[in-house]
Amino acid sequence: MRIPDEVIKELESIVGQENVSTEPAELICYSRDFSFIDVREETLPDVVVWPTTTEQIARIVKLANERRIPVVPRGAGTGECGGAMPIKGGIVLDLFKMNKVLEINTKDMWVLVEPGIVGDKLNAILAKHGFFLPPLPASSEMSTIGGNVATNAAGYRTVKYGSFRNWVMGLEVVLPNGKVIWVGSKTRKTSSGYSLTKLFVGSEGTLGVFTKIMLRIHPLPESRMVLTAHYDTIDKACLTIMDVMAGNIFPSAAEIMDRTSIEAVIRYGIELPKSAAIVIIELDGYKRDVERRLVALKEIVKKNEALGTSIGVAEEEQARLWKGRKAITPALASIKPNVIDEDICVPVSRLLDLFKGIEGISKELNIDIATYGHAGDGDLHPDILFDKRRPEEVERAISAVGRLRELTVELGGTITGEHGIGIRRAEWMYLEHTKEEIEVMKAIKAAIDPNNIMNPGKIFPRG
Ligand code: MLT
Ligand code: ZN
Repeated sequence: MRIPDEVIKELESIVGQENVSTEPAELICYSRDFSFIDVREETLPDVVVWPTTTEQIARIVKLANERRIPVVPRGAGTGECGGAMPIKGGIVLDLFKMNKVLEINTKDMWVLVEPGIVGDKLNAILAKHGFFLPPLPASSEMSTIGGNVATNAAGYRTVKYGSFRNWVMGLEVVLPNGKVIWVGSKTRKTSSGYSLTKLFVGSEGTLGVFTKIMLRIHPLPESRMVLTAHYDTIDKACLTIMDVMAGNIFPSAAEIMDRTSIEAVIRYGIELPKSAAIVIIELDGYKRDVERRLVALKEIVKKNEALGTSIGVAEEEQARLWKGRKAITPALASIKPNVIDEDICVPVSRLLDLFKGIEGISKELNIDIATYGHAGDGDLHPDILFDKRRPEEVERAISAVGRLRELTVELGGTITGEHGIGIRRAEWMYLEHTKEEIEVMKAIKAAIDPNNIMNPGKIFPRG
C-alpha cells in the first residue's frame, strides 16, 4: 500500500519529524524480524514511527483506523515467526523509546513498565529491590517486555513459574479505534468478568497496542543451584526429566540438549561432555531446602544411569554450566549455514515419543535436526539445519517443519509452546484448533478490530 503524503505529515505533527522515517534503508530493516526462510512474504512498511506517549499512539491508531492503514507494533524484532513483519505495508510502530519503569511496588509485588523495556534491564533494576520477573525468554538480553507479552513468551524458568500470561496483572491498551482502556486488576486475584488481560497477552499485536504493562514480581530466591548430567542415550535423559517433574524436586529450569546440539556447541569452542544428551536442572529457594532437593535430584540422575554430573553452586560456576545451552543458536551455524527453529510442545509424558519421532523424521528426510529446549515443559526446539543454496535441501527442510507439527499434534501437543503463530504457523492453525474454535477467535478479532488494521495477516489462516 502507499500512504498519502498528508498522512505522513500528520504523523510528523503527532510525534515530531525526527520520530518518523520513510528512508528506504530504514524500511528494509523494519520489513523483517528474526524469522526463517519458510516465511516467504516480505513487504516494506510505508513508514516507521517512534512514539513516546500513550496519547501519541492513540492519535496514530485513530488516524490509521480512519484511513484503513495497517499498524504493526514492534519490540526488538527477535520474534521467530514473522509476527512483527508488516506484510500488508502500513505503519510500523517501534516502541523502543517507551522503555521506562514507571513504578515498583514491593509491598503488593508488582512493577509498572512501558512496553519497550528490555527484560534483562528490568530484572537488573528489580534485583536492587530484591525481586525478579521469572518468565524471561532466551532472547531476554535484547527482547522487550512488550514483545514478550504480545507473544506470551516463556523461557527456562517457566517450568516452575509459568509463562508471561501468569505474570501480567494489567495492561493499558490503545484499541484499534484509538480509545485507551485499562484491563486487569491490582489485586493478586480477580473473578470479575472475562479476563481481557489474558486475552490481550499473546494476541501478537492483532487487538491493540500495549502502552503500560503491570507485572507481578517475585522475591529473589535465597539460593540457586545448577546440576548438569550427561547420558549415553536420549531415553535416559528424558526419563530423568520425567522423574524430576513428577518428584518433589520443583526445578526452576529443566532443559535438555541432544547429541547434535552438543556437537555444535563443542565445535563452537565451548567445553561440554561428548554424549548423546545433557540435562540441565536448576533449583531455587531457601538454601537448606535446595540442598535437600539436590540430594533427591542426584538419586534420580543416578537411577537413570547418568555418565557424569557437574554441580554449580557459585554464581560463576552456574553461568559456566548454562553457557553451552545459551550458545546453541549461534553454535548451530557451525554445522550448516541455515536453520529453521521450531517450538513444539507436548505433554511431558510424551517427551520420549517426540524425540523418537524427530529422529525418525530426520532419518527419513535425510536432514540434520538439532533438538534442545525446555524439556520439563515438554517444549522442544528442533532446529532443522540446511543449506539454502541447495533448493532440494530447502524442500526437505520445509517438509520437516510440517512433519514435526503433525507429529506434535498427534502426540496431543501444541504447534507453539512460546514463540507464537505470526505468519509462519497461521496456515497450521486448523491442525491444532477446530473450525468452531477459530471462528470464535475470528469473532473476537472482528469485534475489537472491525477494520482489521492491527497487524493484519497474522495468527489467522487465509480464507
Ligand atoms: C530458546 O529456548 O533458546 C529459544 O526459545 C529458541 C530460539 O531462540 O530459537
Ligand atoms: Zn525456548
